[in-house]
Amino acid sequence: MKHPVFAANWKMNQAPADAEAFLRQFLAYYPKTQDRTVIFFPSALSLHTVTIALQDRSDIKVGVQNIHWEDHGAFTGENSASIARGAGARYTLVGHSERRHVFGETDEQAGKKVAAAVRAGLTPLFCVGETLAEREAGRTVDVVLRQLRAGVAEVDKAQLHTFLLAYEPVWAIGTGKTATPADASTVHMAIRQELRTLAGARGEGIPILYGGSVNRGNAGSLLAAPEVGGLLVGGASLEADGWASIVRN
Ligand code: PGA
Repeated sequence: MKHPVFAANWKMNQAPADAEAFLRQFLAYYPKTQDRTVIFFPSALSLHTVTIALQDRSDIKVGVQNIHWEDHGAFTGENSASIARGAGARYTLVGHSERRHVFGETDEQAGKKVAAAVRAGLTPLFCVGETLAEREAGRTVDVVLRQLRAGVAEVDKAQLHTFLLAYEPVWAIGTGKTATPADASTVHMAIRQELRTLAGARGEGIPILYGGSVNRGNAGSLLAAPEVGGLLVGGASLEADGWASIVRN
């Protein structure tokens, strides 16, 4: 039996008042359940509002979209993992394609962020994914596994079983193009194999989420694919009833 994980990446959307209105609606559509996990990644400035709105819903988790790799210091505009944790976050995205491709984040920086998250007691949801050019050059699995190895390079592999991973092909994010369930599965199986190599039997239970233009129409078939342990959703997580129908899959 799968215990799917549904993660909503709100990106730079949902001001505190919007987040509050969203959650009022969403919670009415989504009664407490223990057979799946829902995680919201709001803007850091809406995090407090979201944690307050969810204080009676221990089944729903909250995280931040980004952290700095240092624990504190002169980094104007940045948030550390320990500040995020103090503000109520329990998870953090790391290595999202927009961080890598819009903000130029490197494999090495992503690895340092994963280590900072672990130090502060945040669970990383570590994202990997190839560009269209890399896919067309037949390099998908190489790229994804390189990103994965770099992402966990600085952490004790005994910690890995607490992580979440996401495979998000860059060409599928926000484009309306989705990997087929079979294509997603092929990459997820390669990731699973690498997790077994890195973490032994403990690598078996790490959920691998798929992301990239997931919507209420394609969520069910993606989730049913072998080794797809959940979904990481951007655009389709911004509307309460649509998101509720995705998490009820
Ligand atoms: P999308 O974004 O669902 O809008 O494609 C997914 C993501 O960026 O995590």
